[in-house]
Amino acid sequence: MRVGFYQFRPLFGKPAQNGKKIMTALENVDADLVVLPELALSGYYLKDKAEAIKYAEDPENSNLIDSLSNLANKRNMRLVFGFAEKSARQCFNSAALIGPNGIEHIYRKAHLFNEEKNCFDPGDTPFIVNDIKGVKIGIMICFDWVFPEVARALALQGAQIICQPANLVLSFCQQTMLSRCIENSVFAITANRYGADKRPQGILKFTGKSQIVAPGGKLLHRAAAQRDALFIAEIEPKAANNKMMTQYNDVLADRRPELYKSLIYK
Ligand code: ACM
Repeated sequence: MRVGFYQFRPLFGKPAQNGKKIMTALENVDADLVVLPELALSGYYLKDKAEAIKYAEDPENSNLIDSLSNLANKRNMRLVFGFAEKSARQCFNSAALIGPNGIEHIYRKAHLFNEEKNCFDPGDTPFIVNDIKGVKIGIMICFDWVFPEVARALALQGAQIICQPANLVLSFCQQTMLSRCIENSVFAITANRYGADKRPQGILKFTGKSQIVAPGGKLLHRAAAQRDALFIAEIEPKAANNKMMTQYNDVLADRRPELYKSLIYK
């Protein structure tokens, strides 16, 4: 399976330009699955909910998302990309999985980071996996990395590849995702952005270094920090089916959920 990411620098408040940049970068790509950054169309550093809604897309009625679907159809591939999602009076920090026939799944970010809480409603979608060409993929968005329950919930449902659109500003995530891939024996594709959003409320700088990690925490590739990067690798998703860390230790089957009740009820 050919999977990868496109790291770029979305321009704040320029969805059409950002969409065009993505379309141009991917027009000849040969891949089954490409992951793009969080909020790849709108840019990141929104000031409040009104501004988030201004730059949001209604997936049922979005020329930009339709164009990306057409691209997925033409290239016979899947895309996972982050966008601000307008839904009635709500606005979510979402990621869509789109394929040759359009939208297959929308995940709404569960764990909002910092000032995102001024702009978005907390996600209300469960962690589920989608089947693409017989391979199970799950989605998390950026700051979800802090909550190991997310990768675990996806792995327990059979996710072989975790797709993570990101706009990372802290320095810990890339390295932490190696652990997520060790403890769940999964692949993870983190598609981060780079550059900065300079807004009246401040400046945020993004860390790039998008990456693909294999089960066992093996870093297959990490991009440069501050540069466009389209990277595609051939992987064998079945490698994620082997959960044995030693001949006696299955990282999923050896869990002791009866001892973890405080995880659920606290
Ligand atoms: C983040 O969740 N965008 C840091």
